[in-house]
Amino acid sequence: MYDLRSDTVTKPSKEVIQSALDAELGDDEYIEDPTVNNLENHCAELLSFEKGLFVSSGLMGNQVSLLIHNEPGTEVITPHDSHIKNYEHGAAAFLSRVQFRDAQNIDGEVDLEFIEKLILKSKIHKPQIKTISIENTHLASGGSVVSFDSIKSLSDLSRRHDLKLHVDGARIWHAILEDNNKNYGDYCDSLTFCFSKALGAPIGSMLLGSKEFIKEAREYRKKLGGGMRQVGVIASMASKALENRECILEDHVKAKKVYDFLVINLNNEKIESVVYKGTNMIFINVISEEDPNKLLDIFYKNSINAGLIGDKSIRLVLHKDISSDDIDDISNRLLHSSSEF
Ligand SMILES: Cc1ncc(COP(=O)(O)O)c(C=O)c1O
Repeated sequence: MYDLRSDTVTKPSKEVIQSALDAELGDDEYIEDPTVNNLENHCAELLSFEKGLFVSSGLMGNQVSLLIHNEPGTEVITPHDSHIKNYEHGAAAFLSRVQFRDAQNIDGEVDLEFIEKLILKSKIHKPQIKTISIENTHLASGGSVVSFDSIKSLSDLSRRHDLKLHVDGARIWHAILEDNNKNYGDYCDSLTFCFSKALGAPIGSMLLGSKEFIKEAREYRKKLGGGMRQVGVIASMASKALENRECILEDHVKAKKVYDFLVINLNNEKIESVVYKGTNMIFINVISEEDPNKLLDIFYKNSINAGLIGDKSIRLVLHKDISSDDIDDISNRLLHSSSEF
């Protein structure tokens, strides 16, 4: 079975697991675990932030950021289809008690004029807007890279209006390896990225921001039960996985190969479109009259475990545990399945 549901299914390599055995450890609640401290400093430096905090998940990084940037009853502007709003189990309502204001977007890039108007409107009846949150790469559009120019413009806008800019960079390395822009800390107030997606670490995310932001984040992490002890065993695996981040580019090549094959060969009127946005995902959109679950079941019968996203899209995610040698077989299985649809 080829598991293409997500890049979260990637397993740690032996080399990654070995690094846990060799890790130097201490009590991270006392900020005394050297492996964690090194990883936090290294990640902060890589992305031009002052400090980092190792957290258990992308969700925790996102939600701690919202807790710090907002007060209950304020608003966060975010793409209408963002993860932080739609897929975090209502955590923002539960924890920071903010509400989201939808920003229309094209491939994760929001319309600045629209946001400017929202901000100006938010005087008497509308809640105060405190934060803009964007997602890079943008999951719901199929893994699009949000342009760095658009991030710089958003940074300028948020500074002019005294707002905070947060980046849900769960898959930030997919963007960075494509466009080479790393200095997020010069433009954004906080960013979180995951070690457990595509990189192949078993657990963990990094939250980045200013020194004051990370001090507060440490307190919120504790309140949420996320304080950890000899967590260098996990941080070492995250660190080793990050060292191998170039492997993500191979995932992009594999995804493009499958996409090219499908675009040339797929011919079924029940499939509306096949979408590839330049990173590690392919979306297969079925026509509105059809149930994508049916195609999902056929894929499964043909040894392809795919994921469902939204009402009409099947998601295929290429990752490090799928070898380049398997791409032809996967492509043929997808084609054969769609002929049974
Ligand atoms: C864009 C995005 N943000 C945040 C998360 C949350 O990450 P985690 O599953 O580590 O909580 C995910 C998880 O898939 C994601 O895709």
